[in-house]
Amino acid sequence: MVMDSSWPDRLVAGLRRFLGRVAYRLRQARSVLWPQVDPVLLAEARSRLPPRWRAPFDRLGGSEKAHVLRLYRAIAADPALSEADREALITLALTHDLGKAITRPTFLERVVKTLLPIPNRAHPILGARLLRRLGAPPALVRRVARHHRAPGNDRLLALFQRYDDSL
Ligand SMILES: [Fe+2]
Repeated sequence: MVMDSSWPDRLVAGLRRFLGRVAYRLRQARSVLWPQVDPVLLAEARSRLPPRWRAPFDRLGGSEKAHVLRLYRAIAADPALSEADREALITLALTHDLGKAITRPTFLERVVKTLLPIPNRAHPILGARLLRRLGAPPALVRRVARHHRAPGNDRLLALFQRYDDSL
């Protein structure tokens, strides 16, 4: 009998992926339970939005604001980005979950959605509608609507999802 010599490697790689997912879920759960919102960074990020977009931004919950600020900080500091990409990604980071200002998930819903892979359907659509009413550019509206779906050939959305999924 010929044993596949690479099975221990595959087992280790699989275990590593599993533990990585568990660690990610635990980090998410921690940020839902104890959101860290730096008021100075929040004011800086908020000031980047057109004035009319700030009211729904303010209605986001603490854990959504904390998530947005983690994205904002990472995108602002990423040396690999061009300035044009950075600007577009920051706007998308600040607006992608604005639909949650309407759905206002309860604490329990947040915890359950963090721990279980439940699809996010309502808030991308509601956020996109809200932004369209606020006069946002069509490309931004489309990306907000699709931010939990496969990016297809939208390079910027694919780039954004790498931050969104890890922070
Ligand atoms: Fe989202």
